[in-house]
Amino acid sequence: MSAEQVIVNKGLEGIYFDNTSICHIDGQRGILLYRGYNIHDLASNATYEEVCYLLLYDRLPTKDELDQFDAALKENRNLPSAVMDVIYAFKDGHPTDVLRTAVSALGTIDPDVKDMSLEANLRKGIRLIAQFPTIVAAHERIRKGLDFTPPREDLSHAANFLWMLKGEEPDPDAVRAMDLDFILHAEHSSNASTFTARVAASTLADLHSSVVAAISALKGPLHGGAAEAVMEMVEAIGEPERAEGWVQEQLAAKKRIMGFGHRVYKTEDPRARHLRELSKILGEKYGEPKTFQILQNIEKAMEPMRAKGIYVNVDFYAGSIYHYLGIPADLYIPIFAIGRIVGWVAHILEQYSDNRLIRPLLHYVGPMERQWVFIEQRS
Ligand SMILES: CC(C)(COP(=O)(O)OP(=O)(O)OC[C@H]1O[C@@H](n2cnc3c(N)ncnc32)[C@H](O)[C@@H]1OP(=O)(O)O)[C@@H](O)C(=O)NCCC(=O)NCCS
Repeated sequence: MSAEQVIVNKGLEGIYFDNTSICHIDGQRGILLYRGYNIHDLASNATYEEVCYLLLYDRLPTKDELDQFDAALKENRNLPSAVMDVIYAFKDGHPTDVLRTAVSALGTIDPDVKDMSLEANLRKGIRLIAQFPTIVAAHERIRKGLDFTPPREDLSHAANFLWMLKGEEPDPDAVRAMDLDFILHAEHSSNASTFTARVAASTLADLHSSVVAAISALKGPLHGGAAEAVMEMVEAIGEPERAEGWVQEQLAAKKRIMGFGHRVYKTEDPRARHLRELSKILGEKYGEPKTFQILQNIEKAMEPMRAKGIYVNVDFYAGSIYHYLGIPADLYIPIFAIGRIVGWVAHILEQYSDNRLIRPLLHYVGPMERQWVFIEQRS
């Protein structure tokens, strides 16, 4: 192909690179399906554990299957002492960096480290789903100078995370909020972090290495970092009545409003509805409706942007949920990762199952055939 014929799809926008049976997104109509099930049905009826089973095994579990899966998660919640040492050693690092480093460390000592069979990869994936909350909670406690709160086998995935994080019996509304947040973040097709995981997996790198790559991609403010940026915006605005003017100023200065816009959705992100409802409920319950009101006013001020297909995305209300649960802002990305790890694992397994190395092209636009100059002659 000559240079003139090359079509560059910046950001790989609009490019299909493979088939998948994990997730379907209709960005025009605002539809999201996990393995064929509508996100609204899952949000209303499922637990995170059920959603994990669905994403990994491509069907809803029976009661016995769910009990067994839940038991496997509970058995794997503890961290090897070497990984606890890693968390202590890097306790002053950003929680996302600590999570990434701990997963890297786990990859060196996982009992199935050399086994690339589907069964071994499922075992590794289930271990990581179980271990992610422990890493994040352990680091949060350790960096605050508090004792590590060991996981409890009588609690669900979401309840146990809150228990380990706070060291106190979690409130049922907080547990439901956390569980729903994990469900809504569990999977989202070839977003940047999942694509990164698949790129690493396509080289036949092991599961832990592929997950480390995914966490790295999640870290940026255009992906997992947006929820934290939304809460910084809420803080900068301060009062609900200042929201509209603040948004106008930002837009006039050609700045982006975090928590809006999406590469795929050109209508409202279907996950936002559930987080909006939760944010309202928690704001009232914890006697602090101001954050929710500021978010509502920002959303109202952004209504004219809908003409350009810019609506709220999943991150817009997510930060407020964590804020209401008393979770510090630098834990928002790791919490996104706790929900998303199952999606990454499902995609890594799908990539391994019918692999072709992912290796797109870059269109070279630099100079050609430059003449070598010896170092003494360079000016
Ligand atoms: C998510 C995001 C990167 C997708 O962007 P994209 O598909 O590459 O879209 P583009 O960057 O091409 O933006 C298209 C237009 O919409 C505007 N736009 C996109 N998101 C915007 C936002 N959040 N606020 C204001 N304007 C926005 C762009 O400025 C651009 O305008 P222009 O055509 O006048 O130049 C982008 O919407 C964004 O930066 N959002 C804020 C970060 C965020 O919430 N990320 C979490 C995503 S789940």
